Amino acid sequence: MTPYEIIARKRDGHPLTAEEIRYFITEYLNGTVKDYQMAAWLMAVFFQGLDDQETFELTRTYIQSGEVIDLSDIPGVKVDKHSTGGVGDKTSIVLAPLVASCGVPVPMISGRGLGHTGGTLDKLESIPGFNTQLSVAEFKRLLAEHGVAMIGQTETIVPADKRIYALRDVTATVESIPLITASIMSKKIAEGIDALVLDVKFGSGAFMAEVEKARTLAQKLIEVGRAFGKRVHASLTNMDQPLGNKIGNWLEIEECLETFHGGGPQDFVELTVRLSARMLLLAGRVATLEEGISLSTEQLQNGSAFRKFLELTAAQGGDTTVLEHPERYPKAAHQHTITAPAEGFIQSMNTRQIGLAAVLLGAGRLRKEDPVDPVAGIHVFKKTGYAVRQGEPLMVLYTNREAAVQEAERKILNAIRFGAEPPEPLPLILDELGD
Ligand code: URA
Repeated sequence: MTPYEIIARKRDGHPLTAEEIRYFITEYLNGTVKDYQMAAWLMAVFFQGLDDQETFELTRTYIQSGEVIDLSDIPGVKVDKHSTGGVGDKTSIVLAPLVASCGVPVPMISGRGLGHTGGTLDKLESIPGFNTQLSVAEFKRLLAEHGVAMIGQTETIVPADKRIYALRDVTATVESIPLITASIMSKKIAEGIDALVLDVKFGSGAFMAEVEKARTLAQKLIEVGRAFGKRVHASLTNMDQPLGNKIGNWLEIEECLETFHGGGPQDFVELTVRLSARMLLLAGRVATLEEGISLSTEQLQNGSAFRKFLELTAAQGGDTTVLEHPERYPKAAHQHTITAPAEGFIQSMNTRQIGLAAVLLGAGRLRKEDPVDPVAGIHVFKKTGYAVRQGEPLMVLYTNREAAVQEAERKILNAIRFGAEPPEPLPLILDELGD
């Protein structure tokens, strides 16, 4: 078995054996297989795919490259949620404390924003002092004491994915369903969960924009999760416009606070409550989806979810006074209102371009090492289907980079299509699959 032979077999469309996959990945981590060979193999996989058995083996090899967290001494069915990423997707920040407030433990390991999509860790870190870089031992202690912990990827969990993802990122091989499946599911399984709710996005802001590709991804994620004995649910949800009304790290925390206080945008609240109900159902905490929806709504309305969020923030070193007095939070130096260029209905929004406009303002990063500005972002007043008059405010941009305002405005106006008739309403949740 040589790296050359394995690359050539995949290039020519042959399935690889478990030994070949294990050898190739393990020897990459050991340095025998070089970056250029891994890059060639990734491109071969991109074009030829992996069958279910190969995807399972790749996932298993990824998991075995690092530590698997053992949460068996923590009572209860441990359930996490993973989103494939979007713009304005702050769901985890309300969802994790909400589900924990219902008595279901939520061990959550999240990522950072990259490209047009935001990341839960950057949003949490906009709360002064909030520490997401905790060890596995601290993660377990928090979970045992508070029923929830929200941290970043550690060095010890799935190191194979860390290295290979970095290479995929620069070799245009991210958008491959089997590679995404192994990458996501290995990290979730290594986290020690019993069950998982997946929020698989489709639409212009998702990285699987086509619904049918997103559906296939959801099915593959479910199959691999089940092969490892986990209960898995996947919702296919819309990213043809930003979720909620605020994009940007602290702005999104503000929107979460509005939601914890019983307000919040309707689409964001609906998605959060429904995903919460799905998590409660997987954990056996409720018998029906309806029961889950009503319990989740009640816990949001009666302040229990907010109290759990304050408890979690304090436990992870965050300043809770700023959550109780968000008006004290520093503001961006520059604000700029974008107005409607003409009268009509908003027909569609290119969410990816709106996310990239937020990156220009400082809210996100194009390279992993870029810093993010917690106060930068966009407050969206008008979304798809809204009727607007010429000159009416559409969005407000917040930034400390005044020079970026013009370009961000241009990007946003190019991303919005206006028309004389109202468009068909967008479904928020298109389908629900799995357990
Ligand atoms: N998110 C991941 O964790 N991995 C991928 O491959 C794509 C998105």
